[in-house]
Amino acid sequence: MRGKFITIEGTEGVGKTTNIAFIKQWLDDNGISFINTREPGGTPLAEEIRQVLLSNRDEKVCSKAELLMMFAGRAQHIDQVIEPQLAQGNWVLCDRFTDATYAYQGAGREMGDDLIKDLETMVQGDMRPDLTLILDVPVELGLERAGKRSEPDRFELEKTDFFNRVRHAYLSIATNNPQRYKIIDASQALEHVQLQIADTLNSFLQKDHNG
Ligand code: TMP
Repeated sequence: MRGKFITIEGTEGVGKTTNIAFIKQWLDDNGISFINTREPGGTPLAEEIRQVLLSNRDEKVCSKAELLMMFAGRAQHIDQVIEPQLAQGNWVLCDRFTDATYAYQGAGREMGDDLIKDLETMVQGDMRPDLTLILDVPVELGLERAGKRSEPDRFELEKTDFFNRVRHAYLSIATNNPQRYKIIDASQALEHVQLQIADTLNSFLQKDHNG
């Protein structure tokens, strides 16, 4: 049986790393074989593209170049990792996927959705995640948390307005398709966040068994 494709999304500082560790534990506890991967990245070539995308540079990166690099890495990642793993029956847990492109390039960079939709169809056909968790915190809180980590990358240098557009895009994508998306209020204490995640995963697994 084909594996399930789960993606984790959110703006900066929402706690993806901690919560992905929690989801990995949940998968192990449920005896599900899976791989954990990320975008941009996930293969040696796509990780090189990630470096290019995230590094700070004097040259202005035009939005179309950024968008195409996101999808170039994604095409490689799907071909080399995601599809083969799902076909073998393994679940794929991916830190960000195409929803990040709608949120960051579509809304953050104000490119709109049309071009992204076309590229999504070209690169993915009708392949989409089975479940997407959107970790949501107010932008200021997320930036404060993220700021305590390392040197900011090219995206982390963006302003609050950019991240507000990103956040609202995620929330509106999720609201328009509640079957696939679950918004997790990640501003709460960690144990409450993880309860919401466990509930979501348990009911997803239940639905899968029933249907
Ligand atoms: P990360 O720090 O969560 O690994 O993500 C790297 C950055 O890449 C993050 O700031 C969001 C950005 N990004 C996009 O702008 N578009 C995309 O399609 C993806 C996957 C990530």
